[in-house]
Order: sequence, then C-alpha cells, then structure tokens
Amino acid sequence: MHKRVTTAAFRKMKQDKQKISMLTAYDYPTGKILDASGVDGILVGDSLGMVVLGYEDTTRVTMEDMVHHIKAVSRGVERALVVGDMPFLSYHMGIEQSVRNAGRIIQEGRAQAVKLEGGQEILDDIRAIIKAGIPVMGHLGLTPQSIHNIGGYFIQGKTVEQAQKLIQDAKALEDAGVFALVLECIPAELADLISSQLSIPTIGIGAGKGCDGQILVTHDLLGIYQGKSPSFVKRYAEIGITMEKAVSQYIQEVKQGFFPGENQSFHMDAEIVEKLYGGGN
Ligand code: KIV
Repeated sequence: MHKRVTTAAFRKMKQDKQKISMLTAYDYPTGKILDASGVDGILVGDSLGMVVLGYEDTTRVTMEDMVHHIKAVSRGVERALVVGDMPFLSYHMGIEQSVRNAGRIIQEGRAQAVKLEGGQEILDDIRAIIKAGIPVMGHLGLTPQSIHNIGGYFIQGKTVEQAQKLIQDAKALEDAGVFALVLECIPAELADLISSQLSIPTIGIGAGKGCDGQILVTHDLLGIYQGKSPSFVKRYAEIGITMEKAVSQYIQEVKQGFFPGENQSFHMDAEIVEKLYGGGN
C-alpha cells in the first residue's frame, strides 16, 4: 500500500520548491500505469470528450460520462491524488446542484478533489463545495468549457486588463479556499507573477516553467491522440504509430495464416481426434 498524495502534500511541495507532476487519465489501465510511474496527481479531465469520446470540444461531456471514467481511473490508482473535472453546466445551475455534482465525483467516482473552470463568477459555488468538505482545484486562463465565448483556443491574458483580471481571479480563488490552480495557455511572465503571489501551487499547461507544477493531456504526450495538439505539447512517444504498426502486422499475419501459431494454439489427444473424425466407432 502506498501513502496517498494529498492536497496538503501539494501545498507542501510548493513550500519545499518541489515541482508537482500531473497528467490526465480516463481509464483503469492508464490510471494504473501513471500511478506506478510516480506521477503526483491524475486529473480525469473533461478533455475526455475530445481525446477519448471523439467530440469536437468539451461542452458535450456530461456528469454521467465523468463519473463513469473517474470511477475507472480511481480503481487503478493507489498513490496519486485523483482530481475529477466538473463538466460543462454541472456547476452553473445553482449552488445546491453544484455541491451535489461535486459530491457525486467524490462519493461515486472516488476522486479526492474536483476541478472547476472560472474565476470570481463561480466563487459562491466553490465556497459551498469546499464547505461540504470537498477540495477544489481552480482553472484559469484558457477555459475550454467557455470556448464559444472565447472564440477559439487562443493565448489568454496578453493585455494589461486581461492580465490584471486573471491576477484578481487567482487571488479570489485562493481566498475562497482552492488548494491548487491550473493556469492554461497564458504567457510565462504572467504565470510567474501569479505563482509568486499565491501560497497555493499553480499547475501550468502552456504557461511556462515558472509554475509550481505541470500538467499535460496524456494522449497528447504519448502521441495517442491523432487530432491537432496544441503547440505547448511535447510528445514523449508515438504510441499511436506503434499501435497502427502492431495492428497492421496482426492483420497481415491473419490474412497469410501465420496467426495463430503453435504457441497460441491448444491441442487434444490424438485418439480423441481420431474418434471425432469417425475412426473410433
Ligand atoms: O480537461 C483537461 O484535461 C484539463 C487539463 C488540460 C488541465 O482541464
């Protein structure tokens, strides 16, 4: 049994100037592999919609989708902190529903925390969720659930006004009690400034190296997702190509009669075979 990484451990890592590593997972085997690799936190992100379910954006992901995948990941993870994303419209229909949905992610999904996108406009929901005993991770900058409002996947916070608004939002989220804050697709200088002004850790994605931790979508990092990846992604492997090659080889071997071979076959006694062929009666 491994000692579980907690939200307090995230805060401690910032204090100790130890960088925090996070990745996304959406299923049991990936959760298990990431956990065994020693990652600090696993986000079951609503990026699920794009990289696993084949949607064009995250707005079609439902609470049922999230709970189903969070459950699967949680079953495979013993050590890392599991954070479940609250999907589009699951925290915009009143505080009671926000708390109930966050509660499902903990109670049914078995995650240890939830993540919500947005700043001052969702503070009441965040406060109520935290009051119910559920740790909350914030998410500012590029917030994909608002893609129709933002108009595209652009870098956020490039003007003084936008940057100041992000700084205010970050401080408001910290005051509301979030234990960590994802900063997505903002200039590195702004992420540095926000990280230096907060006592909670910032987790960057496309936000430079000054954040207290980093997160990437695992399907991008491993080269599984064949759609367009953002330019801030670094591909550490080309698993998609490896899968395609392996599957092509399998198809060829089936067609040519090389698969299954002797090692993949079972046999019975020769006498029984003879009887079956009609020689034994
Ligand atoms: O849904 C997700 O995977 C995310 C990360 C990109 C931070 O929100």
